[in-house]
Amino acid sequence: MYGLGYIGLPTSLEFAHAGYRVVGVDVNQRAVDMLNAGEVHIFEEGLAEWYTEVRSAGLFSATTEPVPADVFFIAVPTPIKPDKTAEMEYVESATRSIAKVLQPGNLVILVSTSPPRTCLDLIAPILKEATGLDHETDYDLVHCPERVIPGAILKEFKENDRIVGGTTDRATQRAYDLYASVVDTSKLHRTDSVTAEMCKLMENTFRDVNIALANEMAKVCERMGIDPRGAMKLANLHPRVNYLAPGIGVGGHCIPIDPWFIIEKAPDITPLMKAARSVNDQRPHEVVEQILDEAAVGPIAILGLAFKPNVDDLRESPAVEIAVLVAQHDDAEILICEPFIHELPEELVEYTNVRLVSLEEALTAPTVVALVAHDAFRSVSRQADGKRLDFVGVFA
Ligand SMILES: NC(=O)c1ccc[n+]([C@@H]2O[C@H](COP(=O)([O-])OP(=O)(O)OC[C@H]3O[C@@H](n4cnc5c(N)ncnc54)[C@H](O)[C@@H]3O)[C@@H](O)[C@H]2O)c1
Repeated sequence: MYGLGYIGLPTSLEFAHAGYRVVGVDVNQRAVDMLNAGEVHIFEEGLAEWYTEVRSAGLFSATTEPVPADVFFIAVPTPIKPDKTAEMEYVESATRSIAKVLQPGNLVILVSTSPPRTCLDLIAPILKEATGLDHETDYDLVHCPERVIPGAILKEFKENDRIVGGTTDRATQRAYDLYASVVDTSKLHRTDSVTAEMCKLMENTFRDVNIALANEMAKVCERMGIDPRGAMKLANLHPRVNYLAPGIGVGGHCIPIDPWFIIEKAPDITPLMKAARSVNDQRPHEVVEQILDEAAVGPIAILGLAFKPNVDDLRESPAVEIAVLVAQHDDAEILICEPFIHELPEELVEYTNVRLVSLEEALTAPTVVALVAHDAFRSVSRQADGKRLDFVGVFA
């Protein structure tokens, strides 16, 4: 298993638990050392306990060096570069490392979310050049994208439907059989590698475009003087209409990134996807403008920094971006209430006007702004003496 992060480690443990001997390969020496010392280096509900249990069977170990194996999984990061094209250097370096030990008859499974044709146009040529082995005749190459959500990775690994797409039918069947030993076959769907690559990206692009529509429609509703959420609820009574929730922008490391992997491959025929990205990227700036326009004199309380409700993950969170911009543009004291963290993230520590406070203290501010619909904020009333700005429909 190349990559022992949020995807690679739980996947390793699922296979080790099923009786396979799994060697995790990661370039992060600290992660490897911690795992070999019995500790887990990332937080995911239930993972540490699961690790202890699986490790005691002696079927998992970690290393920084490539080791020969029957099956190689690639679960390394695939972020975007500043020019919005896919950063594939981690997949490339993992593939080169696999090339050092690849043998005829091996199976290579790309798990990382990747632009379409990555198996055929990137991985297969690297392996062919380095080893002379061909994916059609000598080894098997498959894409099995991951759909789990942070916070429920262990549960969703088992329960979600899973697409298995090989560069040949033989490869597809082989990976299908392998996954069938850890998940229910009713959840496994066979296809080709390019379809598998596209499917994963199509899912998140669908969500991005529909969130953009909801965000744009919400602004029109507000200009018309009506409540956007109320209007969308009524529109959703139509049996074939389903507006997603409008909000403060799109966060996390999947939805704002994956559409670019499609756009990169077909820039001339994807104006809608590009427009959706731009609408959603613009949203935090509009929210900041509204906060600065409407805030009462005195401290501004911001409720929530996470990229989605009820998790501690602040990566790529539009709420963090908004808090930073408000802190930069307003001299007022900014009181942040984020029940899932104990210290301010590094983006905010440098601002002397920003403090992490309890919900109780936050609610004493003359302006209270909700940016994340954490359950903890559901008891907050929208009626108050001060100004209450609810961008996520959480106040009671
Ligand atoms: N985290 C999620 O919720 C999620 C969900 C679906 C899909 N994905 C996709 O899964 C892939 C992995 O994501 P993640 O969240 O596990 O990332 P992560 O950052 O948590 O972990 C990636 C790991 O890969 C290691 N790594 C980097 N280069 C390496 C190399 N050359 N060889 C070996 N190890 C290397 C890193 O040190 C790190 O430990 C990405 O493509 C991501 O888009 C993630």
